[in-house]
Amino acid sequence: MRLFVTGGAGFIGSHYVNAILAGRYPGTEDAHVTVLDKLTYAGNLDNLGFDPFRLTFVRGDICDEDLVMSLLPGHDAVVHFAAESHVDRSITGAAAFARTNVLGTQVLLDCARRAGVGRFVHVSTDEVYGSIDHTSWTESWPLSPNSPYAASKAASDLLVQAYHRTHGLATSVTRCSNNYGTHQFPEKIIPLFITNLLDGQDIPLYGDGMNVREWLHVSDHCRAVHLVLTHGAPGEIYNVGGGRELSNRELAERLLDGVGASWDRVRWVADRKGHDRRYSLDSTKIEKELGFAPEVPFERGLADTVRWYRDNRWWWEPVKKRAELEAAWQTPGRVRAGA
Ligand code: NAD
Ligand code: DAU
Repeated sequence: MRLFVTGGAGFIGSHYVNAILAGRYPGTEDAHVTVLDKLTYAGNLDNLGFDPFRLTFVRGDICDEDLVMSLLPGHDAVVHFAAESHVDRSITGAAAFARTNVLGTQVLLDCARRAGVGRFVHVSTDEVYGSIDHTSWTESWPLSPNSPYAASKAASDLLVQAYHRTHGLATSVTRCSNNYGTHQFPEKIIPLFITNLLDGQDIPLYGDGMNVREWLHVSDHCRAVHLVLTHGAPGEIYNVGGGRELSNRELAERLLDGVGASWDRVRWVADRKGHDRRYSLDSTKIEKELGFAPEVPFERGLADTVRWYRDNRWWWEPVKKRAELEAAWQTPGRVRAGA
């Protein structure tokens, strides 16, 4: 099996590639993986295992049609993780989201069609459904995205389905809930809060802290993506939920406990614009049709994640410092040349 994985140096993509290289899924012992990744701020080569015989890494942009066309022929499947993925960044600047998430997906679809690639799995998100106060979304729920990030992912989902219907490309879409685990860039709530607490800093809770997210360990998500690749039906969409809903306030309490800090480290800050109140997926379809069930209990997964960040400062300190400096440079008057 020859897999073409986009965004394989990011958080979820690298867990997926490393699982393939480790032969963790049946039939992947001899699989070869080509990773195409632009190495944006979120991409990190330290995330990827090294295997010169089974892994080819290419630094490049999924929007670069000539590059993608030069790489893709000969692969059996595309697993598409590459995206701009952080909601807050999409609120301050949406251009990169439209470009990578929409145009980049279209370029990949077109190249996959021209190269005759047999399978295409598009990794999407529950955020395309919007926000839900009660009950849970099934796959047939109408799309109602709120943030520019979610809108760009919804647009890419529609393109994927259009390439299936129009060109017969064997695509499937996965829509997953919030992931957590090791190697997640420290801008998303769990790694940001853990690393702030380890550094003796406060943690910023948005609004009233009662927004609810459904958590899934990244290893469970990757297993679901591979199940969809190998056993999913072309043209279908699969929700992948963790089943564990927590308000941000409850999550903050668990993280404070995990690091041994008290509630006085919480700083209440202005709410995110257009902040979705609650996400909740109905994952019956993937459970019944593909036999998927999450395996990592939340308490164990969270404790392992806290331990990993405590033991691996070398990984997150430089990337976090660079992100803080970049943010400071973008705020007029905060940092001056030579200061
Ligand atoms: P991430 O931000 O950690 O990684 C994204 C990767 O894509 C990085 O390695 C980056 O360098 C690469 N990339 C960005 N633009 C690129 C471009 N133009 N060309 C090539 N590579 C590019 O993201 P993640 O959290 O690992 O998310 C992966 C996918 O899963 C995304 O599509 C995201 O929408 C989806 N998803 C994420 C979550 C979550 O909780 N993190 C949940 C559901 C779905
Ligand atoms: O639901 C899946 C989505 O989960 C993915 O598609 C996205 O790529 C991923 O980033 C994530 O989006 P969220 O917006 O839910 O994740 P984030 O970690 O940014 O925020 C989680 C919740 O925590 C949200 O309600 C906002 C809140 N929050 C976040 C940050 C960064 C805070 O209260 N303080 C913070 O500093």
